[in-house]
Amino acid sequence: MHIHDTIAGLRAALKVSHGGTPRIVLVPTMGNLHEGHIALMRQAREHGDTVVATIFVNRLQFRPGEDFEKYPRTFQADCDKLSAAGVDHLFAPDEAEMYPRPQGFHVVPPAELDGTLDGEFRPGHFKGVATVVMKLFQIAQPQVALFGKKDYQQLMIIRNMVADLNLPIAIVGGETVRAEDGLALSSRNGYLSATERAEAPRLNRLLREIVAALRTGNRDHAGLENKAVAGLASAGWQPDYVAIRAQVDLQRPTKDDAPLVVLAAARLGSTRLIDNIEA
Ligand code: PAJ
Repeated sequence: MHIHDTIAGLRAALKVSHGGTPRIVLVPTMGNLHEGHIALMRQAREHGDTVVATIFVNRLQFRPGEDFEKYPRTFQADCDKLSAAGVDHLFAPDEAEMYPRPQGFHVVPPAELDGTLDGEFRPGHFKGVATVVMKLFQIAQPQVALFGKKDYQQLMIIRNMVADLNLPIAIVGGETVRAEDGLALSSRNGYLSATERAEAPRLNRLLREIVAALRTGNRDHAGLENKAVAGLASAGWQPDYVAIRAQVDLQRPTKDDAPLVVLAAARLGSTRLIDNIEA
């Protein structure tokens, strides 16, 4: 695996790395890689010739008071995992390379997508994500890019960005990888104490209960959402939301037959966890 910390270095390498028309597949990450990230790397291989992973903890998408400073940085272990997964190039710039001056232009997601769910609780977060992803797209110029369904709203925003701005990039979504007890793998799981880790699968359990209720024909969405929020609160969580939404636009479903996704975000101690299941 070739490791690049400059844009010029990555671009030069991608130019010569393949004869003919290279099909570059990009998998952006913030590092501290786990099996969820690595599954995306493996899937990437099926979509092209040259797999490019990126590791960059993007300050723009963290709000003041969030975990930018303490976000786990495990570069050497990450390199070993990427290399073992057959990644061809790793782009791991520092902040001065990505933001040599304060970022002036931004990609601003539309209010319908950004003003709800995680966007509502983390104002500015998706603007920071869309902006850095756009930069990474310009830097690596991939034909395909992979993102996990674990961050469902992020995937939706990137799909819409690519469509609205006519970027010639196919966006592929990867299924959420979970621990055996259902907890979605996340770099933030490492913040959990042993007691919190034992409690954490409740989030996924409650989502599965809602999906089961929806499948038996329960249409009382507000009732199901409120019950799950109460369940989390009484177990000591601080829930941000539990929401039953249409997959197509993440709004409250207006049609009875709309494919649904159930999403939740809640804090356990000081760790904020998110999860979702397509119903
Ligand atoms: P990060 O949280 O490192 O995630 C990188 C990619 O891995 C994202 O597409 C995310 O959805 C996916 N991912 C994380 N956990 C997963 C799991 N358990 N199963 C499947 N996929 C999973 O998301 C980001 O970084 C950043 O916002 C980024 C897109 C890199 C922009 O800075």
